[in-house]
Amino acid sequence: MMTGFPLSDHDAQKVSDRLCQLIANRIQEAGGCVPFSDYMQWALYEPMLGYYAGGSSKLGKAGDFVTAPELGDLFGRTLARAIAPLLSQTDAQILELGAGTGRLAKTVLAELDALGVRVRQYGILELSGELQFRQRRLLGKDNRVQWLSALPETFSGIVIANEVLDAVPVKLACLKNGVWHERCVACQDGQFRFKDCLASSVFLSQVAESLPQDIVLSALPEGYVTEIHPHALGLIRSLATMMATGKSAAVLVDYGFPAHEYYLPERTEGTLVCHYRHQVHDNPFYLPGLQDITAHLNFTAVAEKAEASGLDVLCYAGQAGFLMASGIMELLPSMEKKDAVSARLVQEAMKLLSPAEMGELFKVMVLGHDVQPSETLLQADRSGRL
Ligand SMILES: C[S@@+](CC[C@H](N)C(=O)[O-])C[C@H]1O[C@@H](n2cnc3c(N)ncnc32)[C@H](O)[C@@H]1O
Repeated sequence: MMTGFPLSDHDAQKVSDRLCQLIANRIQEAGGCVPFSDYMQWALYEPMLGYYAGGSSKLGKAGDFVTAPELGDLFGRTLARAIAPLLSQTDAQILELGAGTGRLAKTVLAELDALGVRVRQYGILELSGELQFRQRRLLGKDNRVQWLSALPETFSGIVIANEVLDAVPVKLACLKNGVWHERCVACQDGQFRFKDCLASSVFLSQVAESLPQDIVLSALPEGYVTEIHPHALGLIRSLATMMATGKSAAVLVDYGFPAHEYYLPERTEGTLVCHYRHQVHDNPFYLPGLQDITAHLNFTAVAEKAEASGLDVLCYAGQAGFLMASGIMELLPSMEKKDAVSARLVQEAMKLLSPAEMGELFKVMVLGHDVQPSETLLQADRSGRL
């Protein structure tokens, strides 16, 4: 199958059927059930068949969901202004993880050029063939842009990851009779279903790494289900290793909460959601390979893993607070302007900033190694809330 071309519904269904069969065989080979993270990994990233590996349009109106860089250029331009003072302390490189359509890269490079801030190289690490195809079409002529197949061993520059960690497979934990079980995936009569298994010691240590130290299990209701993020924390550790020898920072933007808000007793079903053609629902077994599966991030665990791996938390803020401190208002037209372009920009800013849209649910975390935080970061920082 060629990547980069939209699939017809018939072809899409065939791809999903092949993926289901493959996953069902693997579950059988594994003895009847697998961790949810294995299922999510295959559903999203199985070569040629997984959601991000296949040919369907994912981002934008014709796809399944819209991200901040896809709304317009405001997000990217403001982000460029925020990273400019950090970038100039480093070896002038940017590394973007999961770069979507490439629009964020294009906007960030254009804004930094306009500000006179040098970018020596813009690397992209993209797991999705379809998205890499779109990125090459948009950015292929800029010889600063290069596509990587793995994280470099060492790096001095700025890492950008917008809505990447939420797409990293999660494990599910379920509380039964006051004891954590691992919610796994089984297959019965050709249908995937959840199966709660006794937790291994490895799983229990991963739960302990995520949950707040002072959590009272008896305050959580029977059957409480939540996510833990060992793979995302593994990615943080890998970034820290890569950043350990140079001056560098990583800007992570995603939806999520601090641990004490994540593991609230009333959040009984966790945060797992699926996106299919702009419909949001909670069934990860619907059309495997054709829908996005995602979970919110536990920013406390990310900060703790980063610090334990040698990075500093330079800033943790709501997206609205971060963008405001970084000067988004300066990019908006004056109040008197009433033309269509101005109206569109104001609408875009509302989406990015409004607490009812992306302003509060999305957070920005900046991790650093051997770099001085800028005034912007110091002003926006709310890391005391972690
Ligand atoms: C929801 S999309 C976000 C795309 C883009 N950043 C945006 O904001 O429009 C998630 C992206 O993360 C990528 N991704 C997931 N895990 C990754 C990893 N370990 N390294 C690099 N990219 C990853 C996926 O391939 C996908 O491109």
